Amino acid sequence: MSDSEATLSEKETTWHRDIGSVQSLAELNELRVKYLGKKGILSNELRAIGSVAADQRKAFGEQVNEARKRLEERLDGMLRLLQQKALAAELHREPVDVTLPGLPRSRGHRHPVSQAMDDIIEIFARLGFTVADGPELEWDLYNFEMLAIPPDHPARDMQDTFYVDMSTAPPPPPGSPPPRGAQSSLLLRTHTSPVQARTLLAQKPPVRIIAPGKVYRCDSDVTHTPMFHQVECLHVEAGLSMAHLRGTLDAFVKGFFGAGTKTRLRPSYFPFTEPSAEVDISHPACEGKGCRLCKNTGWLEVLGAGMVNPDVLKMAGYDPEEVSGYAFGLGIDRLALLRHGIDDLRALFENDVRFLQQL
Ligand code: FA5
Repeated sequence: MSDSEATLSEKETTWHRDIGSVQSLAELNELRVKYLGKKGILSNELRAIGSVAADQRKAFGEQVNEARKRLEERLDGMLRLLQQKALAAELHREPVDVTLPGLPRSRGHRHPVSQAMDDIIEIFARLGFTVADGPELEWDLYNFEMLAIPPDHPARDMQDTFYVDMSTAPPPPPGSPPPRGAQSSLLLRTHTSPVQARTLLAQKPPVRIIAPGKVYRCDSDVTHTPMFHQVECLHVEAGLSMAHLRGTLDAFVKGFFGAGTKTRLRPSYFPFTEPSAEVDISHPACEGKGCRLCKNTGWLEVLGAGMVNPDVLKMAGYDPEEVSGYAFGLGIDRLALLRHGIDDLRALFENDVRFLQQL
């Protein structure tokens, strides 16, 4: 063994001993810098290579590098040991009481609109209706034209519509009709009635569907939100009359609000139904006696309804002499409000958990 190697080996013994006696992470870090830092002892050792005989330089360099590796391992081992000691000390200072009860987990529940929607679907399922679906991004064709609302028809003003800028619109979804003329506009559906048109094209009578879903209008105040939910109901079959409409409405309203709730039809206008009606229910909160919420009338308007316009049936390829139908569309959010006695529709969509958890 040459002099320089012997010296290095002796020094290494001292370094390892010093590392072994370190008491804190800070001290250990100081030693790491002292030995391995840029201007540290090992770098100095390597610099001494100039004074080593030429034929021993390679071996000397290797010795220094191996010593560095061993030092690194030793320092890392010591680091782990000190960290474990620190953790053990911490745990000892604050002992964990494993017998304490766990932290309670708060349980969520379905949103009041989803609860109302589920209840509505259940009631109609009992009456023999199946659930149909339609896209929220809809063609003008289905949202208006096939419901007897041609372009420039004043009824379009009743539903302030969000149109899609067709110059930047993506290609139409698969299965959509090829756009033609005025029917080519894409929009956010303003009601669930387009599902009527889609279903009539896809099925043969008897048709008995409900279509729940989101709809959009450029509206915002205490009783209107830009996005809200509707359920469409459509029944087409031979021999249906207003009496069937009345019976189904009555069964639904009693199922949803309770057996004592009454319905009342008032004449109204929708292009896709003829005759049309607004449907009121006796106010469940005051049992029809009249209060501030129902403006002392005892009645609340909840939905639009009517007999399917023969033109709508014809457009879908049905013969209005053979079949007739009734339809209605209701706002689910307003029903949820009524049920919970809330007076601002917008509160439903502010996502304030403190509010929602009361419902
Ligand atoms: C319609 O949307 C018709 N499609 C309903 C219909 C279907 C009639 C089938 C005949 C046959 P209307 O615009 O009135 O009708 O809306 C129906 C219900 O949606 C309203 O009674 C109301 O409860 C709810 N609604 C309307 N606009 C909003 C809004 N901005 N925010 C929350 N609810 C709304």
